[in-house]
Amino acid sequence: MTEPSDPLISIRDVSKRFGTFKAVDGVSLDIRRGEFFSLLGASGSGKTTLLRMLAGFEAVSDGRIVIDGQAMEEVPPHFRPINMVFQNYAIFPHLNVRDNIAYGLRKFRPTPAQREAMVDEMLDLIKLPGYGNRRAHELSGGQRQRVALARALILKPKVLLLDEPLGALDKQLREQMQLELRLLQQKLGITFVLVTHDQEEALTLSDRIAVMSKGAVIQVDTPTGLYERPKNRVIAGFIGNMNFFDATPSSTGSPQVDVQGLGLVAVNGRVRARSDGATTLIAIRPEKLALHSEAPVTGGVAGVVQALQYLGGRHMVHVTLAGRDTPVAVALQGGQADVTLTPAPGQPVWISWKDDAVLVLDAD
Ligand SMILES: Nc1ncnc2c1ncn2[C@@H]1O[C@H](COP(=O)(O)OP(=O)(O)OP(=O)(O)O)[C@@H](O)[C@H]1O
Ligand SMILES: [Mg+2]
Repeated sequence: MTEPSDPLISIRDVSKRFGTFKAVDGVSLDIRRGEFFSLLGASGSGKTTLLRMLAGFEAVSDGRIVIDGQAMEEVPPHFRPINMVFQNYAIFPHLNVRDNIAYGLRKFRPTPAQREAMVDEMLDLIKLPGYGNRRAHELSGGQRQRVALARALILKPKVLLLDEPLGALDKQLREQMQLELRLLQQKLGITFVLVTHDQEEALTLSDRIAVMSKGAVIQVDTPTGLYERPKNRVIAGFIGNMNFFDATPSSTGSPQVDVQGLGLVAVNGRVRARSDGATTLIAIRPEKLALHSEAPVTGGVAGVVQALQYLGGRHMVHVTLAGRDTPVAVALQGGQADVTLTPAPGQPVWISWKDDAVLVLDAD
């Protein structure tokens, strides 16, 4: 018996070897029912390989995959409660939109009336009613992708696997399709597993994200969790902008560490005392730093504006600090800074931050 609270997909110590090369290395993940789950990682990190093992197109070398309470070892792809949409959204050029969408229905032998009703429902869902008789070459890229989605969804899979489905689209269309994908997933309540190397896409769409690197999962968390509590340098640098600082913990275990360029910084016991003089990694997001045109009474670190970068809606100010080579990035959002005018290069400024803005990262 499976309870609704059980994971729909349970991946346990799964590896995939191609010869002696491990493309997926000991991955364990639980994906919940109705979840929008993303696999995020650089090219070659093993995302597609993991997805193909879920779909059954690739056998696992080690470990176990259970979907909806059933072990998958012996289950061929077409018997799995899963459908996959590929990166290049191949739809059949010789079939029109209706026949493309209905393609997978053949094995269920619906009556013509049932078939037409199901296709109509899908055309409404992907907002292409009236496009049924068009052929692939008469559709835009985004429309073709929606048809490919409908073709997968008409089979009512429990899980839809999507491998970089929006990769080929331009930025504007991609953002529009992201929104549609999320709305569609919420409406249908189907579990989506999305592969992407676009961190912004993963952050906007997902309930949870697994970050992959070199075949392994290095952190699984909500978008906010990954952003606010990245585990190590790779994730902190991959998701959004980040300032990194080398810090030397004191040997006495005091609540402060000596940070290059910032001086003594409170870390509230999050760095263990060490006597070997090894450095630790501290990180602060640009938007967690405040910029001041005069020394703040509560303390701050003096610096000089090196450059100003306009990012549409906000500025990033790069501030040079004594004792540090890389300038520190400070994001200026409306109302946050008490700098009256937009700072100019060469201007002396002060930066400050709250204790809880300081992240202490794992050495990696
Ligand atoms: N059939 C195969 N035979 C040998 N090596 C393979 C095979 N399929 C994948 N690999 C290797 O496994 C690694 C992971 O590949 P995979 O396609 O899973 O990466 P990915 O994360 O999807 O990357 P991308 O973002 O570029 O699509 C790569 O180094 C790749 O070369
Ligand atoms: Mg891939």
